[in-house]
Amino acid sequence: MRYFRRFRMEFNFSEHEVPAAVLPPGYRFVAWKPEDLDRHSVTKFGCFRDELDSMVFPSLSSLAGCRRLMLEIASQRTFLPQATWLICRDGESSNNKPVDCGTIQGLANGRDAGSVQNVGVCPDYRGLGLGRALVLQALAGFQAAGLRRVFLEATAENGPAVELYRSVGFRLIRTTFRQVPDESPAASE
Ligand SMILES: CC(C)(COP(=O)(O)OP(=O)(O)OC[C@H]1O[C@@H](n2cnc3c(N)ncnc32)[C@H](O)[C@@H]1OP(=O)(O)O)[C@@H](O)C(=O)NCCC(=O)NCCS
Repeated sequence: MRYFRRFRMEFNFSEHEVPAAVLPPGYRFVAWKPEDLDRHSVTKFGCFRDELDSMVFPSLSSLAGCRRLMLEIASQRTFLPQATWLICRDGESSNNKPVDCGTIQGLANGRDAGSVQNVGVCPDYRGLGLGRALVLQALAGFQAAGLRRVFLEATAENGPAVELYRSVGFRLIRTTFRQVPDESPAASE
């Protein structure tokens, strides 16, 4: 077995304002539509395929796994479209089609709490503020849905993600461990 330390973090709307999400010029948010499920899956795969979290959650290491995961998220009764977004960049590809650069999904876990699922920004677009914008845009959606708190989990070794969440106002509430079998292809290095 391999063990990964995970941080459970909480954002409480009574403790922090949620600043408006700002995107760099040329980028825009795409609100959730069921027909965009595959765009989210493909973007999720692009964001996670070579990352630590694809060892922790082997489904993130394949496109088929990301499709299954997105279907599972989007078909839950608690799925929250207002907290589910893509960021795309217009007119960058040779055929002038928008390029999807980042994705986030949200669930409403209980009467007053939500949870963020799988924030990801594709490698070529990191460091531009897109990760922060995705988290703030999702938080605004949770708040609009009347939720008071939002939870998420991050792998402790995932410095960029942990720093991002801390900088937005999430605080560590618990440390857990996730065990991944050695025989899982994603657990071998
Ligand atoms: C985590 C991730 C979403 C960050 O996206 P990003 O667009 O590069 O982040 P931003 O440019 O919005 O940066 C926002 C803040 O995050 C933190 N951060 C981002 N990259 C960082 C890095 N390499 N090292 C340390 N902190 C970093 C900083 O606090 C930064 O604020 P600053 O620019 O004022 O210093 C991105 O690295 C990613 O997709 N990683 C792979 C998938 C993943 O692990 N997702 C998280 C699952 S829990």
